[in-house]
Amino acid sequence: MQVFHHIKNLRQVLKAERMAGKRIGFVPTMGNLHDAHLELVRSARQTCDIVVCSIFVNGLQFGLNEDWDKYPRTFASDCEKLRSVNCDYLFHPDDNEMYPNGLEHQTRVICPTMTDVLCGASRPGHFEGVTTVVTKLFHIVEPDEAVFGIKDYQQLAVIRRMVEDLCMDIEITAAPIHREQDGLAMSSRNGFITEEERPRVAVLYQTLSWVSDEIKGGNKDYSELQSKARAKIEAEGFRVDYFNICNSKDLEMAAFDDNEITILGAMYTEGARLIDNVSIVLEG
Ligand code: PAJ
Repeated sequence: MQVFHHIKNLRQVLKAERMAGKRIGFVPTMGNLHDAHLELVRSARQTCDIVVCSIFVNGLQFGLNEDWDKYPRTFASDCEKLRSVNCDYLFHPDDNEMYPNGLEHQTRVICPTMTDVLCGASRPGHFEGVTTVVTKLFHIVEPDEAVFGIKDYQQLAVIRRMVEDLCMDIEITAAPIHREQDGLAMSSRNGFITEEERPRVAVLYQTLSWVSDEIKGGNKDYSELQSKARAKIEAEGFRVDYFNICNSKDLEMAAFDDNEITILGAMYTEGARLIDNVSIVLEG
């Protein structure tokens, strides 16, 4: 695996690969890689000739009081993991390479729909930071295909919309949520969960699954289900950020006759904010 810190050098090798007719797959990350990230690389490996991964802890998508400075940076072990899944190229720029004019002066990409609800409501500006950096990374790598995890359901939906709205010729692939044995969705922020909290945090996935079963069983009282779900999570000692039953396509609150439904939840532990979701399709 070749590692690049500069846009110019990466572009040069990718240009050659493209000229040779290679299909380029891309997996953008913020590092501190775990098995779920490696699954995304494996997925790109299956459909592409060349796989590029990026590691960049993007300051633009973190709020002022968020964890940018304490976000885990584990470059050496990340490299080892990427080598183990045959990643071809790793792009690891610093802040100056990505934002040479400074964060405040950076031209932004804004998706006006789906970005001020759910995670966007508690993290203002977050999705603007994501769409801006992903656009920049897409321009640098020019992939044929890019892989994103369904764990960040709203991020995936926003990126799909951005790609459509801006006529980007990139296939977006969705990778399933990778979980620990008890159902906890893998996340770089799981390292912030205390030992004492760890046995209880699976309540988020358990509650999403419970609501999903209720809906599949015919319960359509979404507002009551949401309240009960919140109460279950709070009973385990966690503060709920949101717990919403949504239309899978536009992330609006699900209507009575919607068939494609995604249930999304976010809760706070002492040191982290965890998110997860479950999607269901009801028989017409
Ligand atoms: P990061 O949190 O590092 O995640 C990188 C990719 O891994 C995302 O597509 C995310 O959805 C996926 N992922 C993380 N945990 C997962 C899990 N348990 N199951 C499946 N996929 C999982 O998401 C970002 O970085 C950033 O916002 C980024 C897109 C890189 C832009 O900065």
